[in-house]
Amino acid sequence: MADGSALWSLARANGLDENSPYAYLLWAEYFADTMVVATTEDDDETPVGFVTAFARPDEPSTVFVWQIGVDDSHRRRGIAGSLLDHLAEWTGLETLEATVTPTNVASETLFRRFGERHGASVTTEDLFPEDAFPPGHEAEVRFRIGPVTSPR
Ligand SMILES: CC(C)(COP(=O)(O)OP(=O)(O)OC[C@H]1O[C@@H](n2cnc3c(N)ncnc32)[C@H](O)[C@@H]1OP(=O)(O)O)[C@@H](O)C(=O)NCCC(=O)NCCS
Repeated sequence: MADGSALWSLARANGLDENSPYAYLLWAEYFADTMVVATTEDDDETPVGFVTAFARPDEPSTVFVWQIGVDDSHRRRGIAGSLLDHLAEWTGLETLEATVTPTNVASETLFRRFGERHGASVTTEDLFPEDAFPPGHEAEVRFRIGPVTSPR
């Protein structure tokens, strides 16, 4: 089972939205089938990246990405793209969903490249406007990517 506490530390150290440690422990316990963790080759205990996701209750062939993050020291090496590819293969998902804040170029590029690799179209729509959050949080735009095929 994934080490929820280590994932919490990784998320906290790398600027992801902060959630409680309990949330990560819960994910590792109950959503293990829709999460993937990347570790270094020399030390397979230390996570350097992760994706946590869930199958939409109303549409189980659609997997929604809750969080994806890669340690700053390991970025731009294809790890996040590979995490999404593994998630797609592991779950057999038909559609991938995620939300992206408008200024997060890395995240937007990650999901658009995923769509390209899997021959899928990408549609976007406003999901949560800025004023749905407490002050200081950007809007979240939903990306819907599908239908997904094997990587090209
Ligand atoms: C978003 C994030 C997960 C990407 O991780 P990564 O392992 O560096 O991503 P990859 O190396 O797989 O890159 C995927 C694509 O995005 C591009 N990309 C990655 N970071 C980028 C950046 N800062 N600016 C522009 N493009 C970027 C890569 O070049 C690659 O495209 P390519 O295939 O055309 O080369 C990482 O930047 C991160 O953890 N950010 C902080 C947390 C976050 O914002 N998560 C998303 C919201 S929950």
